Amino acid sequence: MTGVTIQQKNTDRKQMLEAFDETKTGVKGLLDSGLDKIPEIFVRPSEELSEELTYKYPKIEVPVIDLSAGRIQVVEQVRSASEKWGFFQVVNHGIPSEVLDRAINGVREFNEGDVEEKRKYYSRDDRRNVKFSTNYDLYSSKTANWRDSLRFSFPDQIRSEELPLSCRESTVEYSNHVAVLGNNLLELLSEALGLKPDHLNKLECAKGRRMSMHYYPACPEPELTLGSTKHTDTAFLTILLQNHVNGLQVFYEDQWIKVEPYPGALIANIGNFLQVLTPLVSNGKFRSVMHRVVANREGPRISAAYFLSGPYEENKVYGPIEELISEESPAIYREVHLRDYIQKFLSVGLDENLGLDFWKI
Ligand code: OGA
Ligand code: NI
Repeated sequence: MTGVTIQQKNTDRKQMLEAFDETKTGVKGLLDSGLDKIPEIFVRPSEELSEELTYKYPKIEVPVIDLSAGRIQVVEQVRSASEKWGFFQVVNHGIPSEVLDRAINGVREFNEGDVEEKRKYYSRDDRRNVKFSTNYDLYSSKTANWRDSLRFSFPDQIRSEELPLSCRESTVEYSNHVAVLGNNLLELLSEALGLKPDHLNKLECAKGRRMSMHYYPACPEPELTLGSTKHTDTAFLTILLQNHVNGLQVFYEDQWIKVEPYPGALIANIGNFLQVLTPLVSNGKFRSVMHRVVANREGPRISAAYFLSGPYEENKVYGPIEELISEESPAIYREVHLRDYIQKFLSVGLDENLGLDFWKI
């Protein structure tokens, strides 16, 4: 392509993105308008699509951990899963399944509810605590994702009156439960690292209330796009609730592995911040692993990611946990203000994965 046509293509794309953004109704709005082909802004480049054909999809699964089993066994399973996979599912985690169902239904009701109500929350302003949008990185990613999201970020407690009425009660109820589970998992992870149970909690890894509630509408051409581009999470730990429509995949030993939806189960995955705190110890380290969501003819897929991502408004620095550093496993990451990392993260697309290079010494 000549320079002029590339420039023209970029201008066209920008205009298409803006027109889509201005509808303020996201991907769901597109689908409701009755299309049988996906717009060009969602179509992945041909080299990505052909790379896809080289993957095999082996039938192995991320570990499922029963949290009601004996402590020693659970800690060992958490350690092994965090080192090998960076992902695991948990059952018997203490959150009643009705609470999970209500949370999913709340997200559905918001997304399928009154369009004008949704428009009121539609925003790309990072100063807002609660916002609805399609593709938070719409203008910085190479390809748009088939996904709309309602997100909130409170430095401390949730101010429930700021949440949309349709999902207010169910979301607050779920976040209160998941915050308790988050603390429990941080204790297990601390023990799995050979530290005192309260070590990670003392570092304030669980500070803040942050959640992304995703709505992935049915997609008429799922093989051409993605629900979420591959990425690692900007958090210490993510706890993910998903409905019965599958789509989540984890990159494990150079293959994409499906994460099966099990009723009542929750998914936990190690985020970038926790990998930075846990340098190479004798048996490896906790891994922040790449994952993505494929689009699906069936829909909607609904999920809620609760991020334990720490106090990033404050002047607090994070670096490798001293107890884990030794001559055999020296620090490989430097200390960083979470705030700086988040700012960098928000300035690029999800697909331009900063990963952990930003922290490398
Ligand atoms: C995320 C994420 C997966 C999903 O929000 O970071 O990976 O299934 N979500 O929605
Ligand atoms: Ni993620």
